[in-house]
Amino acid sequence: MSHPAPALQSIPSDLVSLADYRHYARQHLPHDIYEYIAGGGADEISLKRNRNSFEQHLIQPRILRHMTEGSTRSELLGQTLRYPVLLAPVAFQHLAHPEGEMATARAANALDTGMVVSTLASTSMEQLAATLEGPKWFQLYFQQDRDFTLSLVRRAEAAGYSHLMVTVDAPLHGIRNRAQRAGFELPPQISAVNLIDRPPLPRKVLEPEQSIVFQGMMSEAPTWSDINWLLQHTRLPVILKGVLHPDDAVQAKQMGIDGIVISNHGGRTLDCVPAALDVLPKIRECVGEKYAILLDGGIERGTDIFKALALGANAVLIGRPQVFALAVAGALGVAHMLRLLREELEVTMALAGTPRLADINADCLIDA
Ligand code: FNR
Repeated sequence: MSHPAPALQSIPSDLVSLADYRHYARQHLPHDIYEYIAGGGADEISLKRNRNSFEQHLIQPRILRHMTEGSTRSELLGQTLRYPVLLAPVAFQHLAHPEGEMATARAANALDTGMVVSTLASTSMEQLAATLEGPKWFQLYFQQDRDFTLSLVRRAEAAGYSHLMVTVDAPLHGIRNRAQRAGFELPPQISAVNLIDRPPLPRKVLEPEQSIVFQGMMSEAPTWSDINWLLQHTRLPVILKGVLHPDDAVQAKQMGIDGIVISNHGGRTLDCVPAALDVLPKIRECVGEKYAILLDGGIERGTDIFKALALGANAVLIGRPQVFALAVAGALGVAHMLRLLREELEVTMALAGTPRLADINADCLIDA
């Protein structure tokens, strides 16, 4: 197999969209790593749905409106966002580029964009916090022991992270056939450095009639009572990532969780689930107008962001495109990718006749 090309030092003139980054990334990543990043669970029905769901909505533009007061600024959970876009938590970014998460953080600074740092980052959360100048949130995966989970929370608080995003849709890996077929394994030099002090898992001997999934892997998975415990142990706003059911969204709100991310984890966990966009309108209806809703999965265009906002999201997260851009051109690539999205959102708003984010609502869409 040929060697991947090194990251570019400048942006080629034909690299003009996020899909272009996806195409270019194939040349800049080893095949197995590309497949691990790009792939989804099992038959990738959720993954395909994430893109298809956007195509089921069309924008209904209005003409001849005043646009000079236009703005993409908004308030989200106590922070001002210049654009309603954050970088999603993505593990092990050294897979994509030798500078890993530090390059992404520099791009976030350059574009004044918030970054959500993964528990499974391959750079320490303290180093990233010291680099990040804009909104910095920490994504928490519950660990098998509460003391160690709490130590991660305390480290995030001490480092200056302002929000905790707790991911609850991946207590175990989905069926990752595509990554398996490509023979993907985490290279030994790349690891979850935030977890190096994790106490070893107690050795558990299962009875023959016990299941490796239920009594094994899931025995340490968090439940609602763990989330409740977390709320009592941190003053940071808590956002639950991985919500797809309206009843779970309502429960989160009633428990005092500050916001949710509607997400199917980029189609990487359970296959055959709806896209976030499919369930967004119902969830928005159930939690009311004021509750903070973020959304991710399949966003590659300014028009996608527009549609998510129109159906009730306050902001969106960008997953794979940040890693593809990182692989193609490091910090420069991530910054360029974010700039493309911003321009596309502004152009969409201008051409749709919606100068402010508050003007974007369900009346701006029609079914395809
Ligand atoms: C992820 N995602 C993820 N989510 C999370 O909460 N913690 C994590 O460590 C990771 N790691 C991760 C690695 C890779 C390679 C990918 C592609 C995704 C999921 C991520 O935050 C987000 O939900 C999806 O990527 C959004 O979908 P798109 O934008 O990739 O289509």
